[in-house]
Amino acid sequence: MTQDEMKKMVAHAALEYVEAGAIIGVGTGSTANHFIDALAGIKHKIDGTVASSEATAERLRGHGIAVFELNEVNDIPVYVDGADESNQYLHLIKGGGGALTREKIIAAASDKFICVADESKLVDVMGTFPLPVEVIPMARSYVAREIVKIGGQPVWREDFITDNGNQIIDIQNLSVMDPVKLEAQLNNIVGVVTNGLFAIRPADVLLLGSENGVKTIT
Ligand code: A5P
Repeated sequence: MTQDEMKKMVAHAALEYVEAGAIIGVGTGSTANHFIDALAGIKHKIDGTVASSEATAERLRGHGIAVFELNEVNDIPVYVDGADESNQYLHLIKGGGGALTREKIIAAASDKFICVADESKLVDVMGTFPLPVEVIPMARSYVAREIVKIGGQPVWREDFITDNGNQIIDIQNLSVMDPVKLEAQLNNIVGVVTNGLFAIRPADVLLLGSENGVKTIT
């Protein structure tokens, strides 16, 4: 089974968590795209969605699925999204696609966060995948120097602008021993919009696609 087939399988498994008559939070990335395609098959059962990126909104609308602004919505029972890495505590690194800020906002606003990924994403210690940090453009160099002080190696993701009009720094060569602490520490640097650690609000359920089917970790 290819990695993409595992992503597709796990995305379909997430349909089980979709509640009838609800607004569903929808993430960004290739696994989330499989979820969107699967969601299209039951679109008559839901009231609509909130999207974590312009790309996701476009794909949802392409399937005829209603997309609401988060400010128009009171309750999101379930948010489904992928991840770049997860540890066994369901702390995540996200933002490889650059949508981390809207993803984190929707995760915060949702009752339950279902993370969908292929099994290669589960690691003992996070940080092999470069940790994305969204920054206000004028603060980029300052934030990079502060990241060096805490032991990271910042790399500017050139030629990339987020949906919020900001820039991304990817932190390389990190060994994230205390994800909750590092998430707060990075958020405290002035000029940081958000960082790709989802540890203060981790996933509630991790669905992992493997050769042997879908594993559920809670
Ligand atoms: C988007 O910004 C990311 O957080 C994605 O959710 C993450 O990169 C997972 O992407 P894939 O599903 O494409 O692996």
